[in-house]
Amino acid sequence: MPAAYPITEHTYDVVVVGAGGAGLRATLGATIEGLKTACISKVFPTRSHTVSAQGGIAAALGNMSNDDWRWHMYDTVKGSDWLGDQDAIEYMCRQAIPAVIELEHFGVPFSRTELGQIYQRPFGGHMMEFGDGAPANRACAAADRTGHAIIHTLYQQSLRHNAEFFVEYFALDLIMDEEGVCRGVIAWNLEDGSIHRFRAHMVILATGGYGRTYLTCTSAHTCTGDGNAMVLRAGLPLQDMEFIQFHPTGIYGAGCLITEGARGEGGYLTNSEGERFMERYAPHAKDLASRDVVSRAMTIEIFEGRGCGPAKDHILLHLEHLDPQMLHQRLPGISETAKIFSGVDVTREPIPVLPTVHYDMGGIPTNYRGEVIRPTDSDPDAVIPGLMAVGEAACVSVHGANRLGCNSLLDIVVFGRAAAHRAIEVVQPGTAHPPLPDSAGDAAVARLDRIRHSKGGRKTAEIRTEMQRTMQNNCAVFRTAEVLRDGVDKIDRVAKSFADIGISDRSMIWNSDLMEALELQNLMEQAVVALYSAENRTESRGAHARDDFPERDDENWLKHTVAWLDGGGKVTIGYRPVHLFTLSNEVQAFPPKARSY
Ligand code: FUM
Repeated sequence: MPAAYPITEHTYDVVVVGAGGAGLRATLGATIEGLKTACISKVFPTRSHTVSAQGGIAAALGNMSNDDWRWHMYDTVKGSDWLGDQDAIEYMCRQAIPAVIELEHFGVPFSRTELGQIYQRPFGGHMMEFGDGAPANRACAAADRTGHAIIHTLYQQSLRHNAEFFVEYFALDLIMDEEGVCRGVIAWNLEDGSIHRFRAHMVILATGGYGRTYLTCTSAHTCTGDGNAMVLRAGLPLQDMEFIQFHPTGIYGAGCLITEGARGEGGYLTNSEGERFMERYAPHAKDLASRDVVSRAMTIEIFEGRGCGPAKDHILLHLEHLDPQMLHQRLPGISETAKIFSGVDVTREPIPVLPTVHYDMGGIPTNYRGEVIRPTDSDPDAVIPGLMAVGEAACVSVHGANRLGCNSLLDIVVFGRAAAHRAIEVVQPGTAHPPLPDSAGDAAVARLDRIRHSKGGRKTAEIRTEMQRTMQNNCAVFRTAEVLRDGVDKIDRVAKSFADIGISDRSMIWNSDLMEALELQNLMEQAVVALYSAENRTESRGAHARDDFPERDDENWLKHTVAWLDGGGKVTIGYRPVHLFTLSNEVQAFPPKARSY
């Protein structure tokens, strides 16, 4: 370790990186299992991005309509455009029911029905009767602040069980040994500037998505996909990075989220002609079709000149016909957001909206137990000992090419819990740690040191804006070979220019200049992989819509992309088969078919 950076050592059975819903659920579970667990987070846990999740968490409880976890599973497979792994989807949809009841028992303040049951609203792509029935009321909601309710409860439960937190610690890199086993993580304590080496038998990455690769997104500024970048730097691949979800209803101009729950409660979209255009694109589900379908329909309306406003560049979301009392009770958060960010009183006028980057389906490949996968020629599902990933950082893959709304809160809770269950199966509490070379983590600190003392001519914000513009313009809702090739060339240039970065604050204590530069490096690595993966996939599937290859091509492309990035910025692409099988014989796998809503 460079002498300027004395190191503080820690040893744990399990170290969780990230304290959003997935990280907290894993921390809580592992702690309850008796594993000595540390959770390290760059933000205070309840400020993690889960706090902003709005509309609900999916579970076929059947409180307000008939429901069945198999219908939920079918909808999720269909929503994924058949790229989701069906064993994992079965696991998630079945476990949704006990996982949500458990949340209720933990104390999540769900909204209630007249009978006192958990309130459930319809959400896009969730239907009854294997897609043939009416919309299912499946999103369990705490008004439109469901993520807020869940994260506070999970944090309180974690404190109750004496979980240990290292708050405002920025994880730099994984510690991998020569056999390819993960041994821990190295982190920078932002508060006092010290460097910490956490040894663990199991590292669980719960570091969220990389929404901030884009200029406009619903993601917090902290969503820089730090764990994904750590995985790439460890020489491991990321999976399905080309699949980036646009949420149909970001507030025009600001990008803030207006929950899909607004359409679940009866809201609808119109174009400049006042037409409810979703009836043309999705005659059955209409405004409650899946997000990729609605976002594309809105984009086509705008492209074809039927956008609203003087610049004809947005769509209108109507809630003003709904009962003001209901809006106050069920949608108070978005009513306030609409007022603040677009000046709209939702009881009187429609909200101007536009599809906005919202979620990354791709990430760190894992199995349904949360174990990270490094595919080899002989075993596409080979597990890396000592490493797990959960939440948006992971690609399990339950969302495939397109995630259904309210399946993300579900994913974080179900797989956070699953990771804790698996951890206690493979880790004996209190086992001694094998020795680590003194140099473990040196490369990470040297990287920090280089950026800390960088004197180049380019500012972090300048490079970041160029990266975000490239992603916004060249990796958008609709894609073509030409636009993607241009994007690949541009992102390569922007990524190279990182070598010329210069920061001005050389301190170690709360140096946000340095932290933003490190986050930018993380984002950039993911932007490069996402653009290369998007250029490579010559078909349309889910959120990846190619104008030049408009059809889904199961013969050639029913497979996961796995992409490696080397230190020189070179991307290598391979593939993994999709799991077209189930875990149990209580449901049959759903064979691919055409997808319509
Ligand atoms: O629209 C929403 O409330 C978002 C939910 C989700 O992304 O799952």
